[in-house]
Amino acid sequence: MEIIIQSDAEAATAVATRVIARLLREKPNAVLGLATGSTPLLLYRALIEMKLDWRIVTTFNLDEYVGLPKEHKQSYHSFMWENLFRHVNISKKNVHIPDGMSKDIEKCCAQYENKIRASGGIDLQVLGIGTDGHIGFNEPTSSLTSRTRIKTLTRQTHLDNARFFGSADKVPHHVITMGLGTFMEARQCLLLAFGAKKANAIAATVEGPLAAINPASILQMHPNAKLCIDEAAAGKLKHAEYYRWVYKNKPEWQVF
Ligand code: GLP
Repeated sequence: MEIIIQSDAEAATAVATRVIARLLREKPNAVLGLATGSTPLLLYRALIEMKLDWRIVTTFNLDEYVGLPKEHKQSYHSFMWENLFRHVNISKKNVHIPDGMSKDIEKCCAQYENKIRASGGIDLQVLGIGTDGHIGFNEPTSSLTSRTRIKTLTRQTHLDNARFFGSADKVPHHVITMGLGTFMEARQCLLLAFGAKKANAIAATVEGPLAAINPASILQMHPNAKLCIDEAAAGKLKHAEYYRWVYKNKPEWQVF
């Protein structure tokens, strides 16, 4: 795991933006795993401004609420089209987001996994993190080898996401999410986290034990996982000084 601590969200986003921009330039038909939430908003804005070529890029989104039609303002379909896709030259047929209205969720999840496999696998998976340590919507106790499936949100996630729906009661209970095992097959994972409210989850992810109760800790097993975090999110890391030193002293050829 590479822990990149930057002064603020803008600086941490700049590192992540460089990694993705480089990938899209080197591999124009890259397959990206994309996240929603407030965290990647700066990243998407920066990528839009770079005017990269998305014509043959393929994307797979992490998750979607069950029961929300695509057109619903809070669906992750709406989020992605509003905040990224409509601003870049991506081809609609290359965009994949789980269908929260599917009549056969199990089949829809299996097909999603098949499509990821058929696309050649995810080159780079963007991740945020919940205050309870979830990645995608893999809530605490998610199987560490899980695949795309239906999950039930925790009370904590309801409270955290109430701001988007007006109240916690309006947040759907069920979601479709890519699994922790799905992320493990991505060639690279890039997790972003900003603000003091993420500090406990980041400390558990980086320095806690590998445990289903802290789903993001699965990244300890990933051969190429980067965490781009701000000082506030790094606030509870015991070895922050070491991580800062490592990043500052990376050999020239490793820096991008
Ligand atoms: C959401 C999403 C996650 C996201 C996380 C954090 O509910 N399903 O993919 O990483 O919770 O959200 P935010 O970035 O708004 O803090």
